[in-house]
Amino acid sequence: MEHKTMKQDYGSELWQRAKQFLPGGVCSSTRHNVALGHPMYVSRAAGSRFTSVTGRDYIDMCCGHGAALLGHGHPAIGRALSEANALGLCCAFDTPQVVDLAETICRFLPCAERVRFTNSGTEATLHAIRLCRAVSKRDKLIRFTGHFHGYHEHTYIGGHPPAESLATASSFRESPGIPEALTQYIVALPFNDLEAVEATFKDQAHEIGTIILEPIDFNSGGIQPRPGYLAGLRKLASDYGVILFFDEIQSAFKRSTGGAQTDFGVIPDICTIGKSLGGGLPLSAICGRADLMDRFKPVGDVQHSGTFNAPLTSVMAGLGFCTEVVRPDFYPHLEKLGEALYGGMEAVITELGLPVQVPHYGARFGLMFGLDKPPVDYRDALRHRRDLMLEFVRQMAPQGVYFHDYGGGPCHHGFSSAHSLEDIAKVLEAFRNSMLAIKDRFA
Ligand SMILES: Cc1ncc(COP(=O)(O)O)c(C=O)c1O
Repeated sequence: MEHKTMKQDYGSELWQRAKQFLPGGVCSSTRHNVALGHPMYVSRAAGSRFTSVTGRDYIDMCCGHGAALLGHGHPAIGRALSEANALGLCCAFDTPQVVDLAETICRFLPCAERVRFTNSGTEATLHAIRLCRAVSKRDKLIRFTGHFHGYHEHTYIGGHPPAESLATASSFRESPGIPEALTQYIVALPFNDLEAVEATFKDQAHEIGTIILEPIDFNSGGIQPRPGYLAGLRKLASDYGVILFFDEIQSAFKRSTGGAQTDFGVIPDICTIGKSLGGGLPLSAICGRADLMDRFKPVGDVQHSGTFNAPLTSVMAGLGFCTEVVRPDFYPHLEKLGEALYGGMEAVITELGLPVQVPHYGARFGLMFGLDKPPVDYRDALRHRRDLMLEFVRQMAPQGVYFHDYGGGPCHHGFSSAHSLEDIAKVLEAFRNSMLAIKDRFA
């Protein structure tokens, strides 16, 4: 069955009004759905689904960009919010609950001996980088092209350059307004290439203080580390006295409570986690070895403070989230859904003979159009056919399945513990219809 490109109304009247008061009609630039031509305005949501302001129901395959791992409106989060509200606390105090949550995280994550909470992932990486620079006494970072570490000035350089700027990625600023001077602190290298890292260490041994990476490169579609790569980075970092920083804002909790550092058996010195941690509320954290983390004030000298750090609502939602993920059936359920979804997608791709890759890790995955083998680094991500991805999103929406594509290259999608095997069956049916509809455009 062929599904025509949508011509239906997805809230365009509201969008026209929104644009009068919000730039672009949105509160986050990437919230604009490029494929649909305007943002998806939502009136309510429950479990795996949401309802648009125009009354249409969708199975959500965006899931809060990875934040809604429990789905929408989970009872544990609702209870936590009511309890937090009943306690009446406004903000700017620490509480017994925040200590409980920090202790829980230290039990979950191998690298975590101390935890500092922030609201967004961007805040977490910003302050963690300040800490790394203070500890290492070196300002330069190695980061990898295709990875993303938040929108602040220190890492919004060299992440996603266009192909023509790849050779000079380290000086590629990803937004106007980022001072050129900051590019001197960035060395942007290809992921999955240990030799490039070693050569940089040899060349600039006394300048590099930190290597920051997403252990799974979700922000280029979910590119996996090659076997031995993370362990190789660990060794190089230790040999050269450089801090190894895993940005697990996205990967944490997607497959296990211990994050990619547990799943791959490689322990960084420091990591950041976020997204799903707050069960849909803003909550992120910097976690790391005690000797590093105790450089934070007031015990040390590195500043990290904020009026809204660790608000009780988010902290209690975080505790609610942690209670859910340790239920014995939580990860087995996600695994079953993943097997059904990824297996089903691969079957369609093989049946239709399409060059599409579905890199995945736990409950999150990429869709890379135009690639006939698994991607290794950002150069592969640059070959992704975004025109096909956008058409795919347009085909899925009228069938009641919502994908959100943002940025310029392949991004990530996902499901939640609230999704059922029936939801996945519906997604797969729509997936096959959509792939059939766009099949001829691959040529
Ligand atoms: C790996 C990674 N780091 C940092 C961030 C920034 O997090 P936030 O959007 O909460 O600021 C993101 C968000 O997508 C991310 O995927």
